[in-house]
Amino acid sequence: MLAPLQATTRHYVMCTPKYFTVAYSINPWMDPGTPVDADLAMAQWEALKRTYERLGHVVEVVEPQPGLPDMVFAANSATVIDDRVLGARFRAPQRAAEAEHFRRWFVTRGYRNLVMPSRINEAEGDFAWTGRVLLAGSGFRTDPEAHAEAQEVLGVPVVSLRLVDPRYYHLDTALFVLERGERAQIAYFPEAFSAGSRRVLERMFPDAVIAEQADAACLGLNGVSDGRHVVLPLEATGLAAQLAGCGYEPILLDVSELRKSGGGPKCCTMELHA
Ligand code: ARG
Repeated sequence: MLAPLQATTRHYVMCTPKYFTVAYSINPWMDPGTPVDADLAMAQWEALKRTYERLGHVVEVVEPQPGLPDMVFAANSATVIDDRVLGARFRAPQRAAEAEHFRRWFVTRGYRNLVMPSRINEAEGDFAWTGRVLLAGSGFRTDPEAHAEAQEVLGVPVVSLRLVDPRYYHLDTALFVLERGERAQIAYFPEAFSAGSRRVLERMFPDAVIAEQADAACLGLNGVSDGRHVVLPLEATGLAAQLAGCGYEPILLDVSELRKSGGGPKCCTMELHA
């Protein structure tokens, strides 16, 4: 019998998918020709938010803006560790204006240690905080130079990882943190990474949960864990079974509409790391 894992209360920032649609294509998941059910997207997002609240987490909501359909993917707009905020700088011009809306939100909330990056940096899309190191992806969106910038601004050690498959264009489509701290634990899909990055992950996380192709292909690695409960896309049943075997409690949610933009639970969830 496994000892139950301990959840810790989290502080999340989300953005309502009021203007969500797939109007352009900046990743292989996005096809502007495929219709998006806006009402269903809203219902799926609300179910995600309600799930966090039911688990006792705090969720704050940023006001969405017309003309910014991807603003629902709040994870891309800042990296926050303690009282330090590193803003975002998007690769695609279609998303560029999102960064400023989030910057203003942090200013209004009283954050003073706020830096806007000089390098392209899609925030938690490519940065994953283990409580000890910041795992940082590059290859498709975030510039490798942004990794050094994140280390300097946030004052945490950064480990650079290279993504090699365009379907897994952000680190958070291929890897997520299950448990933070001394015994940090992750789940990831090795094929999304370069050979060298795979070796780095094997060294750092010899006991990691290794995801199968089918679970990666439904964006199953875009999960959110509070150390015990793990929110995953509905189709990631293999990964859910693996996690249950390790003592986690998977919670499967339908995110079909958000996935049409290449998103999932984590993309919609920025964490204010305390
Ligand atoms: N359509 C968005 C984009 O391509 C999806 C972003 C998903 N966010 C994430 N953290 N992976 O930029």
